[in-house]
Amino acid sequence: MLDYGCGDALDAARVAARTERLYLYDAAPSVRARLEAAFAGVAAITVIDDAGRAALPDGSIDVITVSSVIQYVERDDLPGLLASFRRLLASDGLLVIADVIPPDCRVVDDVRSLLATAARNGFLMAAVVSLGATLLSDYSRFRRRLGLATYDDAQMHAVLAGAGLSAERRERNFGFNPARRTYLARPR
Ligand SMILES: C[S@@+](CC[C@H](N)C(=O)[O-])C[C@H]1O[C@@H](n2cnc3c(N)ncnc32)[C@H](O)[C@@H]1O
Repeated sequence: MLDYGCGDALDAARVAARTERLYLYDAAPSVRARLEAAFAGVAAITVIDDAGRAALPDGSIDVITVSSVIQYVERDDLPGLLASFRRLLASDGLLVIADVIPPDCRVVDDVRSLLATAARNGFLMAAVVSLGATLLSDYSRFRRRLGLATYDDAQMHAVLAGAGLSAERRERNFGFNPARRTYLARPR
């Protein structure tokens, strides 16, 4: 399995326990350094960089997850990224693209969903502090300057089809915000 754009992947050891091998990839070198330190003792987890990803054999991955990532990918780069997933996927493999932001989804909905989930699960204070830190961070300035890539259903199906993948939209999103979307894609 490959978790692409995995972030800190706090539950990766639990996921890895159910896989032969879990590859963790994140574009940020600082995130990869944290992952290497956190999972050095977990034999089934391998943290990979760009070269490691390029070196993975064709058809070697059963499941690829991409959760809350494609909004940060330049729109023109998405077809190439999906083609690289298509190359890696086994013929019966599955690509899960979660938390895709549709054009009409507002930041206020994201915040409301996160806070509601936090309140239900007992981490409201931590969520408020983390939101405050995010709003004051470089990330927030970056996001305001560049915006986030959004996709409607037709655009997602078209770009996935262009990469040789057939896709269906999952009934419920994986993630806090039900207004965001999850697509399940398989090689055609
Ligand atoms: C919102 S976090 C999501 C983390 C994790 N997938 C999750 O669902 O909790 C986005 C992550 O994507 C990474 N990222 C951003 N652009 C990326 C890209 N083009 N390729 C791979 N990772 C990327 C960021 O470094 C960050 O760790």
